[in-house]
Amino acid sequence: MNGSSHAESRPAPARDLTTLTTVVTGVDGALTNGWDPGATHGYHGELSAVLIGAEALQAKIGELARAVAADHTSDTPPLLICVLKGAVMFVTDFARALPIPSELEFMAVTSYGSATSSSGVVRILKDLDRDITGRRVIIVEDIIDSGLTLSWLVKNLATRGPSSIEVVALLRKPEAVKVDVDVRYVGFDIPTEFVVGYGLDYAERYRDLPFVGLLGEHMYR
Ligand code: PRP
Repeated sequence: MNGSSHAESRPAPARDLTTLTTVVTGVDGALTNGWDPGATHGYHGELSAVLIGAEALQAKIGELARAVAADHTSDTPPLLICVLKGAVMFVTDFARALPIPSELEFMAVTSYGSATSSSGVVRILKDLDRDITGRRVIIVEDIIDSGLTLSWLVKNLATRGPSSIEVVALLRKPEAVKVDVDVRYVGFDIPTEFVVGYGLDYAERYRDLPFVGLLGEHMYR
């Protein structure tokens, strides 16, 4: 040994990751011409459109995984912290797409607020199972809406002594963000619409869809 710990992380090289994020403005297909996007999974007439299809999601997850791996400068695997439940689909595909070993941890938090918006007051429902001291922590989030949950989580994890904390988020609603959080890797910037699927729910439904879709207005109004 040369005196330095094998767990020591060197700072990641500064890279411009802005081109990683795809800005989504329109929808793939609407509930027109008789096409019903949710029907293949039994959600008949409930979704109005596909926002991001399954293939586009997987392609983006591959890009995100390669970017995270390219930044990894330590011999110790990054510790992926999945924020349940919404990020569960994302983290499993992301970990499998990473060309380097990683380790997984799960955390469940709940935010006080209305059914459709968070307040920033967060309670831990399930905490990490282990110490994260000295680890490169990567929070894996399905969506950043107001950013309040993530802001709280980053502060909470920072008190536990990791060598670094980064965030990889599949989706972000830039127009809804209320608090600025440094998010290094973002898959898609999406409009402020009611999105479901690929882990995202409305009243616990639709998490099982392999794509991100728009919930029909008649389902929540
Ligand atoms: C969702 C999502 C994020 C959070 C984002 O979780 O998974 O964690 O909301 O919202 P914010 O940026 O406005 O804080 P939710 O609380 O709905 O729980 P779930 O993941 O179990 O669905």
